[in-house]
This record gives sequence, structure tokens and C-alpha cells, in this order.
Amino acid sequence: MSQAASTRSTWSNRWAFILVAIGSAVGLGNIWKFSYIAGASEGSVGVFIAVYLACVALIGLPLLMAEILIGRRGRGNPVVAMLNTAEESGNSPYWALLGWVGILGALMILAYYSVVSGWMLDYFWQSLAGGVDVKTAEEAERTFGALMASPMRLCFWHTLFVALTTAVIARGVVGGIEAANRIMLPLLFLILVLLTLWGAVVGDMPAALRFMFNFKTEAIKPGVVIDGMGHAFFSLSIGMGAIMAYGSYLDKKTNIGYTCAWIAIAGVFIGLLSGAAIFSLTFGYGLTPAAGPGLILQTLPLAFSHMPGGWVFAIFFFLFVIFAAWTSAISLLEPFVSWLTERYGIHRARAAWSTSVPVWLLGLAVCLSFNEWSGFKFFGRILFDLLDHLATRFMMPLSGLAIAIFVGWRLGKTIVADEIRLKPRLFGLWFNVLRFVVPVGIALVFVYELVLRDWLQ
Ligand code: PFF
Repeated sequence: MSQAASTRSTWSNRWAFILVAIGSAVGLGNIWKFSYIAGASEGSVGVFIAVYLACVALIGLPLLMAEILIGRRGRGNPVVAMLNTAEESGNSPYWALLGWVGILGALMILAYYSVVSGWMLDYFWQSLAGGVDVKTAEEAERTFGALMASPMRLCFWHTLFVALTTAVIARGVVGGIEAANRIMLPLLFLILVLLTLWGAVVGDMPAALRFMFNFKTEAIKPGVVIDGMGHAFFSLSIGMGAIMAYGSYLDKKTNIGYTCAWIAIAGVFIGLLSGAAIFSLTFGYGLTPAAGPGLILQTLPLAFSHMPGGWVFAIFFFLFVIFAAWTSAISLLEPFVSWLTERYGIHRARAAWSTSVPVWLLGLAVCLSFNEWSGFKFFGRILFDLLDHLATRFMMPLSGLAIAIFVGWRLGKTIVADEIRLKPRLFGLWFNVLRFVVPVGIALVFVYELVLRDWLQ
């Protein structure tokens, strides 16, 4: 084992790891993205949720285990972890490219992720200052539109969010990442439970549940399937090196299988619960959920403005979203920072702040893509959409596919079994799902989406 490897940090205990991994998983994906993708798939929300749940169980969970396995076995940042495990198993060092895709992809996601988190900071600030007072849908749209049209405001909040994220990473694995999650996650959970109960009292929970679980097979539309799969990847933080980096700080004793089950269950549970709270308010106040990416910033403030004590609700709601986003963002910055510190021996704080600069710059371009630069389109999309599309529809699934092939077919059963210590039956089930179901599932969705979809219509 190399010098760097033997002196690496490790999480305080198994629960600390579960906590940080849940912190990474639960984020804007479960709240902002989930609600707007679901809201946009009118009539097929049930299908989207069913595909998402199936993908979490059959593709996400097995991959989560595989990614943590590589991190822990390789004992290094994602590039080194891939290199070490590839070498140990007699495979080509080019597998390290997968680590590169992860650490760079994570920075790319972070650039637009922190812009959206900035929106949440802005609304939180407005709520603190007396509430976002909107009485009609047009007013809500105008308020959100004003934010999107203001490069100054977007850039300011984005900058603040990048700084908050970097400050945590600069403090280290245990003193920064773990400590931040220990404070934020329990609070996040508590706020969510309160919000859901409150939302059920003043809103229309039965309508929300009907909306979310109305499964009609005829509603299966082509895009819904890849949306469901992409969302499973995004919401479980798969394929971007984040979970691999976190796994590299995991001790040998912790059982990866059971730990991952906790992470997946918590991710799904928190996602569904926040969806229920959001839609309950939406329907309770006679609003329609299909407002696109601005859903929680247009529809919800409208509901807040009409409900008793709405501004208190708004403060807690946006705090909840910010905690969720912050704990995910730190996991997006960590992989590259750990690579810098381990590769060049740079002090962590310096590595963190210097990594944040390109992320911040790309984020500034994303802020401008909503206003000044909205005319610049790449494949018909503004920069913001392009980055999100690239990451969720291509990079994450393809990287997931490569991880499944690497662990399922190249790493060798001895190494795999040494890391995944499950009862033989359970192990066999997981290993076969990883070898066959995961690659075939991802490939089928790709072929369908990229080749057959237009053809079949
Ligand atoms: N899982 C996070 C969310 O749902 O918001 C986003 C994310 C974090 C994606 C880390 C990828 C990642 F590596």
C-alpha cells in the first residue's frame, strides 16, 4: 500500500458513512428535479415513478455497491482507485479514464448545480425578508422571471454557494464533510417531516398521492423511461466519482451491501416524501404542477402566500432545500480535490479553493445563459440545459455501464467477494444483476432512446 493510502482519513464509523452518502444522494435531484420532471410528465407520473423505483432497485443499488467497492479497494481518489483496482486485477491502466470522467463530470454538474442552489438561497433570503409575496400565477412567474433575468443576482448567489461548498471541503474529510453532514442531515429530516405534516393539514394530500401513483400503462411515453433511469442515477449520485471518493474513506469492516440498502431507501423515501409535501400544497391551493424547472419557485411561493403562516413555512422549506443541496454539492467537489491533494501533495484548503475557481467560472457562464447569453445555443439548448442533459442522460448512465462491466466482468470474483461480504445467495443475486441486468438495462434504454424511438413512432 502506498504512503498516501496508509495515511488516508477514514469516517468515524459506519453511520457516519451512511450519513454522508445519504447527504450526497438527497439533494436538488430529489426535490427540485423530481418534482418538476414528475410535474411535467402529466398523466404518466405514476409510470415515471415506477420506472425510477425499478431503476433504483435493479440498476442504482447494485451500481452504488460496485462504486463504493472500487473506492474502498482502490484506497484513493477515483482516478487512483480505478488505477489500483485495474492493476490489482491485471487489467489495462486505461480504466483510470473512468475515474477522470467521474471527477471532471462532477465538477461540470457542480457548476450548474450551484446556480440552481443559488436560486434557493435567493428565495430563502426573500422569505427571511418578509416572504415572497405573490398572489397570482402571473406574479409568481414574473418574480421568478426577474431572478432569471438578473445576471447580478444569479451570479451573487451562485458565488456564495460555491464558497459555502468549498469552505466545507477545505476543512477536511472528518472535520468538514462529516461534521457538516452530522449537523445538516438530521435537521433536514426533521424539517421535512414537519413540512409534510403541515402540508397534509393545509394541502390536499390524497390528490398528491393520486397524482404521484396513478399508474396507467398506456401512459408510458418514450421519454419517460430514460427520464426515470436518468433520475435514478442522478438522485443516487452514481457514476460521477462522488460515492467512489466517499467509499475510499470507508473502513474494511463496514458491510457495503447493507449500507447501500440504507442509502437507497433513505434517498427514495426523502424524495417521495418531499414530492408528497410539494404536490399536496400545489393541489391544495388549486395550482397545476407542470411549471418546469421553476416549479418549486413559482407554484410553491404562490401556495405559501395564500396559506396561514406561509412565510414561516417558506423559510423552513428553502432551508431544507439548501441543506440538501449543500451536502450534495460537497460530494461533487470532493473527488477532484482529493485527486489534487493526493497527486501533488497540495494542502487541502488550497486544493479546494483552486478547484472552485473553474467551477465558479463555468457557473457564471451558466448564470448568463438565462439572460445575456440566452441566444447561444448548443444543439438547440442553452448552456444550463446542455450541461444537465449531458450529465444525466449520457455521462452518468454510460459511466454506470462501464462500472458494471469493470466490476462484473473484469475485476474477478475473488476481489469482489472479498469486498462485498454478503451471504452466498444474496451475493450471487447481486453479482448476476450487476453482470447482466445492469448493462443490458442501460444498453436497452439507450438503444431505444437513441435509435428506435423516432423509428417506432
Ligand atoms: N444526488 C444529488 C441530487 O439528487 O441532488 C446530485 C448528485 C450528487 C449527482 C453527486 C451526482 C453526484 F455525484
